Amino acid sequence: MLANRSVRRIALGGALLILAQSSRLLAVIAEPLPIGAALSQTSNVALLGQEQIVGVQLAEEYFNSKGGVGGTKIQVLVEDSAGDEASAINAFNALLRKNVVAIVGPTLSQQAFAADPLADKAKVPVVGPSNTAKGIPQIGTFVSRVSAPIAIVAPHALDAALKRNPQVKNVAVLYAQNDAFNTSESQTFQAAVKADKRLHLSTIQKFQTTDTDFTTQVSEVMKVKPDLVIISGLAADGGNLVKQLRQLGYKGLIIGGNGLNTPNVFPVCQKYCDGIMIAQAYSPEAPDAMNKVLIDLYQKKYKKMPGQFTAQAFTAVQVVVEALNTLHQKKKITSYDVKELRKELNQQILKQSYQTALGPISFDKDGEIIQKSFYVAEIRMGADSKSGTFAFLK
Ligand code: ALA
Repeated sequence: MLANRSVRRIALGGALLILAQSSRLLAVIAEPLPIGAALSQTSNVALLGQEQIVGVQLAEEYFNSKGGVGGTKIQVLVEDSAGDEASAINAFNALLRKNVVAIVGPTLSQQAFAADPLADKAKVPVVGPSNTAKGIPQIGTFVSRVSAPIAIVAPHALDAALKRNPQVKNVAVLYAQNDAFNTSESQTFQAAVKADKRLHLSTIQKFQTTDTDFTTQVSEVMKVKPDLVIISGLAADGGNLVKQLRQLGYKGLIIGGNGLNTPNVFPVCQKYCDGIMIAQAYSPEAPDAMNKVLIDLYQKKYKKMPGQFTAQAFTAVQVVVEALNTLHQKKKITSYDVKELRKELNQQILKQSYQTALGPISFDKDGEIIQKSFYVAEIRMGADSKSGTFAFLK
């Protein structure tokens, strides 16, 4: 009996020793420095996520060419956050298991509300590259974002539409009700329309991001004879909605939300994408030095201009790398304990300012981005109905 107990104790002691050793092993900073990226590579959200992957990969290449963090290279570890909450949670868990120093992601706000709390609990900094719904930085101490909230960005599109056609009166609003960001964005648009005495909010129609047939919503919209239609959806559903709206004869102005802000919408609505006005938190025409760097890197590979999702993802990695470099000035980056590094990294991210492709940025105490310049672009489709550009409005 006694012998058995001591055998058990010895076995337990051994297990504890192994545990202690493995946690000590985990405490060492891996080289190259692992930065997680939980971004959508599959599902309908991949139309946005693919652009983000390009952004984080270009950033990895560029910042490593500049010496990484005090000579230690960074490595962006990508996990597919697909299109739903469960996939984002899986991607975050996989990255946490890989002991990353920070996470860039996920693609959707809807996913961020589900997955960010995991990283926050594990005290791993999350930098949102595209989450624009209200309330994202407030998820937790370890959550910040480089994607300006839709409440600040979206109204610029309404101003541009009214400048284009000052006669606009009837406005129809449509939004994807199963998605946190689209609901949040639409509330901003609805409030802006209601606040403008020249405008009448004639109808509000709802759909799902998974819908492909919008006949019912479009018929309701056509009944109120709108001069302006505002759509908050993702690229696939939003693009199809625009297409069906035009096919059923709508000729007025269209504002698209942030979910349509990608050249990947061109193959969806084709010639019908022409004229969609979209507010932007990035302009390839901005004169910032880091923007020139991004455009150069991007053009070499893709022979065209980067979009907002790429620029924001690039910026998210830049923020992490520059904050890590500041910490390295205080103490060699590889001599930090991982937990200590993540905590200090989170504080440092919020403390400093960055010269980015989005212009000069910094953060408020919650981790909300402070950014100066916003723009509006209009989609112009080529004669082939396939190629298009975002023309930035003055
Ligand atoms: N801006 C979109 C979101 O926050 C992609 O979900």
